Amino acid sequence: MIKIKIITPGNIGIIESDAGHALLDILRKNGYEIYAPCGGKGTCGKCLVTVKGEGEIISCQYYPDKNIEVILPGEDEANILVHQTEYLEDIPCEKGADYISQNPYGVAIDIGTTTVVLYFLNLLTGQIEKISSFMNPQKTYGADVITRINYCQEHKNGLTELKKLIVDAINKELEIFKQKQELNPANFEKIVITGNTTMLHVFLGEDPLSIALAPFKPKFIEKQVKKGHSTGLNINTDAEVVTLPCISAFVGADIVAGLAALKVPQKNYLFLDIGTNGEIALITGDKIITCATAAGPAFEGANLSCGMGALYGAISGFTSQKDYQVIGNSEPGGICGSGIIDIVAYLIMNDLIDETGLLKETFVIHHENNIQVTQQDIREIQLAKSAIYSGIKILMNRAGLSYHSIDALYLAGGFGNYININSAIQIGLLPFELGDKIYPVGNSAVIGALQYLKSDEFGEKIDKILHKSQYIELSDVNEFTMEFALNMDFRKSAF
Ligand code: FES
Repeated sequence: MIKIKIITPGNIGIIESDAGHALLDILRKNGYEIYAPCGGKGTCGKCLVTVKGEGEIISCQYYPDKNIEVILPGEDEANILVHQTEYLEDIPCEKGADYISQNPYGVAIDIGTTTVVLYFLNLLTGQIEKISSFMNPQKTYGADVITRINYCQEHKNGLTELKKLIVDAINKELEIFKQKQELNPANFEKIVITGNTTMLHVFLGEDPLSIALAPFKPKFIEKQVKKGHSTGLNINTDAEVVTLPCISAFVGADIVAGLAALKVPQKNYLFLDIGTNGEIALITGDKIITCATAAGPAFEGANLSCGMGALYGAISGFTSQKDYQVIGNSEPGGICGSGIIDIVAYLIMNDLIDETGLLKETFVIHHENNIQVTQQDIREIQLAKSAIYSGIKILMNRAGLSYHSIDALYLAGGFGNYININSAIQIGLLPFELGDKIYPVGNSAVIGALQYLKSDEFGEKIDKILHKSQYIELSDVNEFTMEFALNMDFRKSAF
């Protein structure tokens, strides 16, 4: 018998089970509802739960054999996961392709500046057998891409060091999977990688310096195809390693893959990925206009006095009754992006900060653990939210559109899953006018890479997107500075 501790928002329970059953079945048997659109076949990758110490796992493919702690998504998150299926492609795996080994696997990888996500796909059955994620180990060399580019420039072996860090970290994940499934490196036959332009340069060992200097021309933006070991990955020597194409220095393959992964009937829509850079696309009929705006790492908690990533122990939500939620229902250790957005919205609504962002006094959330929000934190949030909002505004002006004609705003990335949209509107990060048309779509970048792994036709969708895309460099746009200054203030809106 094994014991499974189940943590849900506001509740902790313990269940017992025999070993050898799929976690999804155990949870269902005990009355926990898990969203499982493919019915436990392992093909949709949606039945995700978090196992403490292991991260997010596909519950229908996970067979616990020891005591574990499981964090289930909250009701809101579960609802978001349900909706994501509507918005993102899930195409069948093409059969009959010529594989080298008898048991071929593909891996879709999103190399984010902060987090790296891998989907392991059995190329014969079309089953996603594992999803894993880890913090990008380059993080200790800088929270954003510019700091990492500087590191490459200022240190003789900087680029080699950073490349080695990411390649070794991916190899470690490949190794864990390989051992568990009793495979050998030759079984990894196809790797599809997405990420921002800098991350792809560093992964391939290409000098990223020109990304950071005007006129911001990367060494490459096109799709790159490499063979097996040449990338340093421990895979089949004849495997194909593809890095997906980018649009510009700051609108990367993550946006391209994400846009391609969207299946939307709308005519005019915005697509927004908020990380250390806000990457924004406005799609209008046959045109796609894109821009990128430096939001800084505030929404990832990096430069806030009590900031932390969206990890166990982070305050991830704050209500009008001054209650807070902590990831994993544990003692709070800091505040993550979604938490700070809620807290700032609360401060605005309760007149604890004025329109200019002046904080009456440091706002203490947890005395014993010394968790508080300072004036400097508010300034960081003002800079970040104005950068994003102003970028959206510039694209709207360029297209000559008002928010009235926009059918939807899709929020990509993990961040979009957790933020309270009303709070994001309240602080002026997202447009008030689009209040009921904002939809989180999850990690659309890795889902795009996964579809590319499954079918060659998906590549054509990507080509069409590239063909229609135009990039606007905001530092060349005079009105951006004015918009940026104008949008720093907070305005109270009523919900
Ligand atoms: S239910 Fe579809 S992958 Fe688990």
